[in-house]
Amino acid sequence: MKVMVGVSGGIAAYKAVELVRALQRHALDVRVTMTDAATQFIQPLTFSALTGHRVLRSLWHTPDSPDAPIDHIAEAQWADLLVVAPATADLLARFAHGLANDFLTTMYLATPAPVLVAPAMNSLMWQHPATQANVEILRQRGVRIVEPDAGQLACGMVGPGRMAEPEQIANVVLAALGRSHDLAGEVVLITAAGTREALDPVRFLGNRSSGKMGYALAEAAQSRGARVILVSGPSALQPPIHCELLRVTTAEEMRQAVLVRQPEATIVIKSAAVADYRPVTVAAQKMRRQGPLVLELQPTEDILAEVVQRRIPGQLIVGFAAETEDTVEQGRAKLLRKGADAIVVNDVGREDIGFDSDENAATFLTLSTAIDLPRMSKRKLGDRILDEIVALRRPQSLLVELSSAELESLREQAPAPRKPILIE
Ligand code: CTP
Repeated sequence: MKVMVGVSGGIAAYKAVELVRALQRHALDVRVTMTDAATQFIQPLTFSALTGHRVLRSLWHTPDSPDAPIDHIAEAQWADLLVVAPATADLLARFAHGLANDFLTTMYLATPAPVLVAPAMNSLMWQHPATQANVEILRQRGVRIVEPDAGQLACGMVGPGRMAEPEQIANVVLAALGRSHDLAGEVVLITAAGTREALDPVRFLGNRSSGKMGYALAEAAQSRGARVILVSGPSALQPPIHCELLRVTTAEEMRQAVLVRQPEATIVIKSAAVADYRPVTVAAQKMRRQGPLVLELQPTEDILAEVVQRRIPGQLIVGFAAETEDTVEQGRAKLLRKGADAIVVNDVGREDIGFDSDENAATFLTLSTAIDLPRMSKRKLGDRILDEIVALRRPQSLLVELSSAELESLREQAPAPRKPILIE
């Protein structure tokens, strides 16, 4: 969905940067229009770099806006929502009285989209009858007002007038767009990134997982109203704010964290790339190079299978499968072997997507369905996976009815569990 952020000239203009980021985190396509006064507080370049779009400012032909004359109409049609943050006293007055003397005010008159304003100004200006009358006019016309907070203002006064926090404005935007809170009340336990198994004090066995997919899922689940517990292996990523992050390193630490928190969860999503093997012994001192080396490895516990065994009633369990060939067949075999409700299969053999990429494609597999989720951003894919998980909650799409004999025969076809191996 597409959101136009209007920025007018107040000191809170710098907070519009955070608002743009917050909206982008919710997978919204964001563009920015600024008044001339706003450019005194913050450079348009900041917003064009963040959004990848030219910042819209002028109604006239200028070197930086050659196609400006029709833009306000086109942009007014483009936006699913216009949010102005901060909205100054002057901007509110111009909106209320239908002035159209710059890009933002002209677009306001031309847009059929819902409009939201987040006022920010000195307390006396906010409380002035003229401003309050303008706010009332806008309210009457259906403009939603995100009321300013009370507190210390940039001018030194204390009182109402401080712009609402960007995260709060983003939530009002999401609600206005009808973005569902379909995971409200759910507790989603997500594992992310890869685990590391120490060989000696400086070396470990690890894998290429960056955690991007798991963190994207965490962000998507949170923005749909879930409480999120994120159990993450080492990752350079910032976790979504407000989500509970448990950092772990080894497969065993991940196992402990997951099993301890599992009883709280209504949905468990295991997107982590867990080490399959750990060294039988960890050298106390750094290993020296001395000819060929034989490492003896033992299998780690299968956390997903254990989570399935300890499933609490009504808990949905979704695994991930990283495959390099026969992805759907291998994924379905894994689904059966592990007993999860669904498995998200990634083709990690593809160079263009997957590990460390911002994009991914997958197949969402249950025993009865295989839903193709074509290449898209990991954040969007996070939402699509959650759509399918929410759909599993609906009675008509619960797992296919198989007789116990059919299930047993399918299980027999699944590949055998791993055996210890030696790496030379
Ligand atoms: N998984 C797990 N514990 C492990 C290994 C994997 O919980 N010790 C989980 C992963 O988080 C993922 C799913 O199992 O949700 C499948 O992981 P994958 O590495 O694709 O499969 P493996 O079980 O390791 O099977 P194989 O290596 O044979 O493909």
